[in-house]
Amino acid sequence: NGGSGGGSGKLNSMLPEKIRSAGVIKVGTDAAYKPMEYKEGADIVGLDPDLADAMGKKLGVRFQFTNGTFDGLITSMQTGRFDMIMSAMTDTKDRQEGLDDKGKKAGKGVDFVDYLSAGSSILVKKGNPEKIESVDEMCGKKVATQRGTTSHEILKTQTKKCVKDGKKKIDVEAYNTDDEARVRLKAGGVVADISDFPVAANAAKSGADFEVVGDQMQSAPYGMAVTKDSKKLRDALKAAMKAIIEDGSYKKALEKWGVQ
Ligand code: ARG
Repeated sequence: NGGSGGGSGKLNSMLPEKIRSAGVIKVGTDAAYKPMEYKEGADIVGLDPDLADAMGKKLGVRFQFTNGTFDGLITSMQTGRFDMIMSAMTDTKDRQEGLDDKGKKAGKGVDFVDYLSAGSSILVKKGNPEKIESVDEMCGKKVATQRGTTSHEILKTQTKKCVKDGKKKIDVEAYNTDDEARVRLKAGGVVADISDFPVAANAAKSGADFEVVGDQMQSAPYGMAVTKDSKKLRDALKAAMKAIIEDGSYKKALEKWGVQ
């Protein structure tokens, strides 16, 4: 038995003692990424919280989500503000190794437990007024995205390519949240917003404002991130994810939120 947390069973015993006795796993997220995680009143809801709930039943603990700025989540976790990150975060080599966007060592790096796959997509205004189908067509244009994301990286790389090809740079506007980037698109301040496909698709289907154009770029796994010295937690999360895939609750959650 897991002390005051009350959890029991094989998976509960895999957790670090501190988490077992608290009965809580603290999770950092950026809750402005519907349907992955977003705010409904004071609650943080979405696919990630639902998957965490299902894992919590297996582990005999509760997952408690805290909102933060995406670009600062890894640093916040390293300073102990939460035990893990679940924020539609792509499992990248740079994040594993703690490298900055120039490939220089900037932090300790994290371990991931992968659980889904998604790439970046281009969201434009309905009717695609600028006739954009790929990032190659964005040289010299204003484009919004969320700071510190893989989509932001795609735009930085493309900007260099524009210059190399003798074209104008992309005027990249990086916002703390993708919600802000989308507001900017709606207002006509930028020609596109680049975000993960599930989020762009959700924005496109929930109103008459937007559409997704072109192909998904750089599909890669999402991972739950833990610090490099959280091997026990990492392995418990891995076992819990396996358990919810096996009993079908994983698939149910994906269907509920319209994510594949
Ligand atoms: N998957 C992308 C990345 O890891 C974007 C994630 C943004 N997540 C969020 N909750 N805002 O860079």
